[in-house]
Amino acid sequence: MHVVRSREQARRARAGLGSVGFVPTMGFLHDGHLSLVEVAGRGHDAVAVSIFVNPTQFGPGEDFAAYPRDLDRDLAVLESAGVDLVWVPDVADIYPRGAATRVTVDGPIASVLEGASRPGHFDGVATVVTILLGVLAPTGLVLGAKDAQQVTVLRSVVRDLGLDVELIVGPTWREPDGLAMSSRNIYLTEPERAAAPVLRRALAEAEARYAAGLRDAALMRSVVRELVRAEPLAELDYVSVADPDTLAELEWIDDTTQLVDPERKGRGAALVSLAARFGRARLLDNVTLGA
Ligand code: PAF
Repeated sequence: MHVVRSREQARRARAGLGSVGFVPTMGFLHDGHLSLVEVAGRGHDAVAVSIFVNPTQFGPGEDFAAYPRDLDRDLAVLESAGVDLVWVPDVADIYPRGAATRVTVDGPIASVLEGASRPGHFDGVATVVTILLGVLAPTGLVLGAKDAQQVTVLRSVVRDLGLDVELIVGPTWREPDGLAMSSRNIYLTEPERAAAPVLRRALAEAEARYAAGLRDAALMRSVVRELVRAEPLAELDYVSVADPDTLAELEWIDDTTQLVDPERKGRGAALVSLAARFGRARLLDNVTLGA
């Protein structure tokens, strides 16, 4: 496994690898990341992973300094997973002195939901991922479904900038009680950890109601909202029932959209997503209905 620091080293190490599936991460890896590594290995000659806690996607007062880091453990885990290349840049490797270029994503896909709670977050994500892709030139970019809005934003970056990479989405990986795996789960106290699976239960209820025929999006939102609000340790930020492509809030969940527009096939009729704070941890989860 090549572990490299600078852009030049990364470029050189990548050059000998053939087709590459690439998993960008901020480290403190868990089984969800490893499942993405596995997805990246399918159909590619090699797997590359980056580990970089990207300062530009954190707002003032957010957890950039506190974000959990354990590079030695991450590298050991990636080595056992058979990863070929790990790029661990410093801030100066990604944002050299004088760097003045940023990728800005306009419109609702970047300004609603996470974008509303974390202004500028997706510009930071779009900028760093564009730089990582520019240096590594991977064949496939593998992202986790848990960060659904990030997937939507990066899909639009890849399309708008004409980047030559296939975007591949890996499934959300869960603890046995349903909690979506996240590096930020480490912030949860014991009672908060016990309470957090309410997010998955609320989304499972949305799936059950959808299967039973519920299509009124406002009603769906209120079903999910009430379940989360019943948990005293959860401070709900938002519940959204939106178009999976535009993230526009829906009035009605229309199962026929995918029939009309084959481009949307497999992306579902509605994305139900939510965010809630449990003490220091702000957790996200989502489910796609009608995929
Ligand atoms: O999902 C993440 O961990 C980050 O947002 C990413 C894609 C690695 C960019 O910093």
